[in-house]
Amino acid sequence: MQILTITRPDDWHLHVRDGAALKAVVPFSARQMGRALIMPNLKPPVTTVAAAMAYRERILAALPANSHFQPLMTLYLTDQSTPALIREAKAAGIIACKLYPAGATTNSSSGVSDLWALLPVLETMAELGLPLLVHGEVTHSEIDIFDREAVFIDELLQPLLQRLPSLKLVFEHITTAEAARLVAEAGENIAATVTPQHLLYNRNALLVGGMQPHHYCLPVLKRESHRQALLQAVSGKQAHKFFLGTDSAPHAQTSKESACGCAGIFSAFAAIELYAEAFEEAGALDKLQAFAAENGPLFYGLTPNTDKITLVKSNRTIPPYFSYGHERLIPLRANGTIGWTMLE
Ligand code: DOR
Ligand code: ZN
Repeated sequence: MQILTITRPDDWHLHVRDGAALKAVVPFSARQMGRALIMPNLKPPVTTVAAAMAYRERILAALPANSHFQPLMTLYLTDQSTPALIREAKAAGIIACKLYPAGATTNSSSGVSDLWALLPVLETMAELGLPLLVHGEVTHSEIDIFDREAVFIDELLQPLLQRLPSLKLVFEHITTAEAARLVAEAGENIAATVTPQHLLYNRNALLVGGMQPHHYCLPVLKRESHRQALLQAVSGKQAHKFFLGTDSAPHAQTSKESACGCAGIFSAFAAIELYAEAFEEAGALDKLQAFAAENGPLFYGLTPNTDKITLVKSNRTIPPYFSYGHERLIPLRANGTIGWTMLE
């Protein structure tokens, strides 16, 4: 049987929610990951250092006994964020700040409405070396949803990188050939996270054979040529600029299977197995460890985890649902199998 032993991975983009939902999902990440960068889009969003520290305590309290999992905290930028907040965040050990264009996705209504009005904040982040995490999609209603990432690159990202060439920036959950190319060609201060769903599925998975709400996330799945570009990016010459960020984003079954279904795919329960499948497809299993456990720490100036995990090439059967407080949570691949299994 094929066995793969790699350094324990980290998840550089994770939604763990709060309350009962947090308790339901965080143990899945703690089982596989050494650390995770926690997204701040709670209701209300995590916009202050005090809120981030309190959230961190709630996450630690929700962990299984003896877990070594470390949540790394982020702040949610708004039109009211100030340079003073950035200095306070850096001093308090906040790892990065997240830019949601207002209205781009789940709980982003308090996001940033004018990137340029935030320039003093972004200049302070560049000065302090505090990374900016970008949900890279424009939100104008006239822009086709499949084009929103590419338009964001032209309208906002390129001008921003020109204006602040030293800003450390992570282009989050990239989905297009355009984004992969921008990151591959940019300086070492620019990196990207890639989700398992965008490596494994194209938009047919969303729309063929009936609408598949559990494959709906933002940015939305793209056409096959983009998926191929992402597989190439994570395994190609500039692969060190791309790292694991699941964007695992749980929503209750009733919120997903609805006339207006929420965006988000829950993958944390089998994140590393899903990525192993994708890297196997790319013929690049030898690059999985760097993607999952080395490139992220390198970018964030941290050391990789010291312990290992073991994956075996045998089918893991995925249950139809997990419990999620009083609700149910439908995982990616529910009722199906994944070609790899992580051992305890
Ligand atoms: O699909 C998504 N779900 N994309 C995001 O950007 C947010 C996330 C969520 O929080 O549910
Ligand atoms: Zn996200």
